Amino acid sequence: MSRNILVAVAWPYASGSLHLGHLGGAYLPADVFARYHRIAGNDVLMVSGSDANGTPITVKADEMGITPREVVDTFHPEILGYWESLGISFDLFTTTMTQNHHRVTQDMFLRLLEAGYLHKKTTEQYFDPEAERFLPDRYVEGTCPHCGYAEARGDQCDNCGRTLDVTDLIEPRSKLSGAAPVRRETEHYFLDLPAFADPLRNWLESKTTWRKHVKNWALGMVDEMPERAITRDIDWGVDVPVDDLGPGKKIYVWFDAVIGYLSAAIEWASATGDADAWKRWWENQDAESYYFVGKDNIPFHAVIWPAMLMGYGELNLPTDVPANQYITFKGAKASKSKGVGRSIGWYAERLQPDALRYAIASILPEQNDTDLSDDDIIRRVNEELVATWGNLVNRVLSMSARSFDGRVPEPGQLTDDDNAVLELGSSTLNEVASQIEAVQLRAGLRAALDAAGEVNAYLNATEPWRILEEDPARAGTILWTAVQAISAIRVALSPYLPFSTRTIGGMLGLDAEIADWTVPEITGGAELGEIRPVFEKLDSDVLD
Ligand code: MF3
Ligand code: ZN
Repeated sequence: MSRNILVAVAWPYASGSLHLGHLGGAYLPADVFARYHRIAGNDVLMVSGSDANGTPITVKADEMGITPREVVDTFHPEILGYWESLGISFDLFTTTMTQNHHRVTQDMFLRLLEAGYLHKKTTEQYFDPEAERFLPDRYVEGTCPHCGYAEARGDQCDNCGRTLDVTDLIEPRSKLSGAAPVRRETEHYFLDLPAFADPLRNWLESKTTWRKHVKNWALGMVDEMPERAITRDIDWGVDVPVDDLGPGKKIYVWFDAVIGYLSAAIEWASATGDADAWKRWWENQDAESYYFVGKDNIPFHAVIWPAMLMGYGELNLPTDVPANQYITFKGAKASKSKGVGRSIGWYAERLQPDALRYAIASILPEQNDTDLSDDDIIRRVNEELVATWGNLVNRVLSMSARSFDGRVPEPGQLTDDDNAVLELGSSTLNEVASQIEAVQLRAGLRAALDAAGEVNAYLNATEPWRILEEDPARAGTILWTAVQAISAIRVALSPYLPFSTRTIGGMLGLDAEIADWTVPEITGGAELGEIRPVFEKLDSDVLD
């Protein structure tokens, strides 16, 4: 029975290049998960897009002297290029600039308004007396009241991760002029988050398999949750669909961005010609939804978006929010706003896509912040991917091709050791499946690589190359056995390493696409394709 699985991936701001922190935080894990479920026979819809709104975009536009739309038109194609070169397999990667997204956002706003969950309130907002403009949160910086970090933004502190109310900042300053901002009255719509505190708490408590850090963070937030402004004094974004606020207001970027998961599914459905198809993931109560985001996005995905969905009604709440911690480069978060680390594109130009995917997947920050350096990437590729998996495939297939006339050898009588290796192949497939189902992707990869290591050990113990002359039948049986294990491990690794999966499939004489999550048997006598090294060993200066 196939399951409907929505793979919802954080929407990156189209205001700059993305880094390995983004790749490991959300995009690669989402892709591994989606690829596994597709092979396992489930109905996957994987969506995201460029976050085109908000002050990250307008700040960039001011900086570059172009319009916000031109900023998005510059970086959206660059981001699409990353997915193309690394095989991040979105069903749709759109933007929040589409008419469809604006319409779906306004529909959500109006429905929450009708249901009584939006309240208009007069508040004080920072105003830059020199620039004579209201200042959106990101245009105000100052000291974080929680951790003392001096460069906190008005909406969130990058150091301690807490979401902030801009008026909490100590010694605020305007990003436009550097002036100390003054308070002025302005009217905005607020989402009544306290109305959802109890249902949210109950819902979160029921999530027994969520990552601890995600659940604890979300539960902590529910306990002290003020109403949250969902409109802003800004001239770029989704129009407020009621006209009683006066001019110069738009919907807050964080309110519209999370709605992107829904609007993208609707856009995808329209493009397929079956306009209602999105409902299979959003209205079907058996459908599952997984939100792949970095830990700074937890408040929005584990609390605020669920509250919006509760208020809207009839749409599925997240099944899980397997948020990752940060990848750190020598201790500094790989963040766009800080400019630490090189772009995904930079790495993709220098490494085979599966080599980069391997290096990142092997250190995914699922439990803790995880440090990564260029030397680590090279070492992991050479000492693990090339030395273990690449070497196994290469030596078994080239020996078979060379000594058995370009074919898979025929098996003879199997020993206990041979049977154990066959058994290892299928148990690895089960093990990797259950790790990926639980979104323990790093452990899944490790299990597959460990299996490759065990098959190498089997070959080192049985030494088919040494007995080839005196006992070719026995050597053939060993190689046949190793080929079956390679066939199994190839499937187990396929969500992680889709490019080499195809290459190795060609060598084994298999179809390019994997049909299901089972071991494809390679029959003795089957013709092998052209055998050549699958992975390049990296020079130590390849990332200099
Ligand atoms: N663009 C925001 C960020 O990069 C939001 C990402 S997830 C969203 O942090 F779904 F809420 F958009
Ligand atoms: Zn802080």
